[in-house]
Amino acid sequence: MTLSKQIKSKNRVQEYGEVFTNEREVKAMCDLVKEETERIDSRFLEPACGDGNFLVEILNRKLDVVKKKYKKSPLDYEKNAVLAISSIYGVDILIDNVLACRKRLFNIWDKAYKSVCKNDCNDQTRDAVKFILEKNIVCGNALTLCCVDENGKDTDKPIVFSEWAFITGSMLQRSDYTFAELLAKDEYDTKTQTSFLDNNADSEGVFLKKYVSHYRRVQENG
Ligand SMILES: C[S@@+](CC[C@H](N)C(=O)[O-])C[C@H]1O[C@@H](n2cnc3c(N)ncnc32)[C@H](O)[C@@H]1O
Repeated sequence: MTLSKQIKSKNRVQEYGEVFTNEREVKAMCDLVKEETERIDSRFLEPACGDGNFLVEILNRKLDVVKKKYKKSPLDYEKNAVLAISSIYGVDILIDNVLACRKRLFNIWDKAYKSVCKNDCNDQTRDAVKFILEKNIVCGNALTLCCVDENGKDTDKPIVFSEWAFITGSMLQRSDYTFAELLAKDEYDTKTQTSFLDNNADSEGVFLKKYVSHYRRVQENG
């Protein structure tokens, strides 16, 4: 990547520290946690995600694993590809970055979906994935933990993240937590040597709301 691709404007560098990481560095850094990047359901959160350079690499790695394991069964592929994307989270203060990040992740997901599931692809699952990305890639201030307006200014709305977990068969549970609550819980878990990013953590913290639906219909619980 040339320097011109790493920087959009001098003003954005000065005001938001916006310098994009090049692919070689992204790959090298992801290799430091290689096993986690190749676990379909391991959760990643990038609190200054830009247009998603790290999240794209993580999604590609997860989808490669899903393809290797499930390419012979479109239904299993679809469900596990949804699991892969539902475990990827990002925050950025600039709305154009957030929109670009969601779009990049969706396009990668959809290209892989088409290449494996071919005629078994359906638009309901695509809409579910778009909805998950709207929830997971948030326009907010990772320092104040508030959502921001179109000018990057804090609103009084807290950042909320949805935790997605398959419970039985195709039923996907969404539990909403404020970012502040997740960080408080993480601090608690560090002291007690568990982790909120760990799917096996026993304490679930204070969630705002839970929803359960078929994974193709998560968008019905707006
Ligand atoms: C150094 S860039 C990194 C972008 C991306 N992670 C990458 O490596 O290509 C920092 C990003 O953080 C965003 N940013 C700056 N302040 C922020 C804040 N308080 N909360 C969330 N994002 C912020 C900027 O808009 C920018 O996209």
